[in-house]
Amino acid sequence: MTNTPARILVVDDEKLIRWHVTERLQRNGFDVVSVESGEEALEQVARLPPDVMLLDVKLPGIDGVVTLRRALGLHPDLSVLMMSAHSTVDVAVEAMKHGAIDFLVKPFEHAALVAAVERALATSRTRRQIAALTTDRRPASALDAIVGRSASMEQVRSMVGRLASSDTTTVLIEGESGAGKEVVARAIHFESARRERPILQVNCAALPEHLLESELFGHERGAFTDAHTQKRGLFESAEGGSVMLDEIGDLPPGGQAKLLRLLENKTFRRVGGVTELRADVRVIAATNVDLEVRVGEGRFRADLFFRLNVVRLVVPPLREHLEDVPTLAAHLIARFNQEQKRQVRGISPGAMELLKAYHWPGNVRELRNVIERAFILHAGPDEIRPEHLTPELRRAAPLRPREKLVPAVEEQGLVLDDVERKLIAEAMERSGGNQSKAARLLGVSRDTLRYRLKKHGMA
Ligand SMILES: Nc1ncnc2c1ncn2[C@@H]1O[C@H](COP(=O)(O)OP(=O)(O)OP(=O)(O)O)[C@@H](O)[C@H]1O
Ligand SMILES: [Mg+2]
Repeated sequence: MTNTPARILVVDDEKLIRWHVTERLQRNGFDVVSVESGEEALEQVARLPPDVMLLDVKLPGIDGVVTLRRALGLHPDLSVLMMSAHSTVDVAVEAMKHGAIDFLVKPFEHAALVAAVERALATSRTRRQIAALTTDRRPASALDAIVGRSASMEQVRSMVGRLASSDTTTVLIEGESGAGKEVVARAIHFESARRERPILQVNCAALPEHLLESELFGHERGAFTDAHTQKRGLFESAEGGSVMLDEIGDLPPGGQAKLLRLLENKTFRRVGGVTELRADVRVIAATNVDLEVRVGEGRFRADLFFRLNVVRLVVPPLREHLEDVPTLAAHLIARFNQEQKRQVRGISPGAMELLKAYHWPGNVRELRNVIERAFILHAGPDEIRPEHLTPELRRAAPLRPREKLVPAVEEQGLVLDDVERKLIAEAMERSGGNQSKAARLLGVSRDTLRYRLKKHGMA
């Protein structure tokens, strides 16, 4: 993230509104430019596109919607927030079909203004990331494969960086399923001097004991019934490279003993073999169970645990770094856009809130699946919206805390109509446009909701 303040362009012909909005946004640390017509706004956009444009619906000269469309013609990824009076809400809604990302009804609360601008900024950040990821084809550093700028992911990355120089050190990666253990293991390998050699992987839980041992260490001809020929194991094939042992907690006792010997002496024998072979590999073990518990239960050797645990790297579950969800989502969208030749532009603010409120039991893998599913459900190039998300996700998110929906009464007073409209808009978005569901969320009858939708020009 940059340190320069975000640039906001305010477009309104009413001097008082320009002044109020400018003043409030400046107080919140934004860099604000204000103009009074669509023509001037377009000049600004052409010269130096703002991060967010706040655009009045009704303007003298070219009106708000035309300005919006021309501005998006110049900069398709521009985030535009419409400002409208009650009487022109339908125009604002129309503007959203043309690419505005949200609208505010005048008079609005200062808190609502700042919140809307912040949401718009988050949206434009995601869009820019997607655009950059789609065009920027530089060969990435192995560390770039680990996406996320949260403190905990930075810590993971810095640990991976430090491990690069010590390329014989054994590493134990801990983390829940889908959290990114494999991503981290590959980054460790490709950052290290071993990168020209292979990284091979085996899941210790996936094979029966004797097959697993021969997979890892190879076997001599005749070592067991099916061993018709000699076979090289993973440790031989990965010579000079790395071996990732996934679900190490499930390695059976025989394999544990052989692995311990390999780590201590750098030697091993094929199954049924007598010759000592040298192993030059880095072992990266991964587990989604607490190995110390297995040690306590007598299912995992304590001496092997200590050997593996030279460097322990914990990959946090996604619910502990939810702030990375927008960045991860942007990466995934860019990847699917590329793979499927699509042009999905981003995620609507409402959908993003659902993604950030979810607890992600399946971690980043689940996020990937959710986005992939949204790509399938959603044929167009626009944004991913709440209705493209899974029912669990939509159900899981509680309505936003009250203080956000009903902002504090400020100098301008609280406009009941405005609050009601916001609540209805929110409920409609959460329910994916389903009126019965939205009515249930609001605790009113469907008829009441329909009446109110009409009253606010939202039907
Ligand atoms: N920090 C990250 N940046 C980018 N992609 C990630 C990140 N973490 C996870 N992923 C993606 O999420 C998916 C699951 O990650 P990965 O396979 O590394 O999980 P895992 O921890 O090894 O899971 P399991 O325990 O089930 O093997 C992959 O598609 C991976 O590309
Ligand atoms: Mg894995």
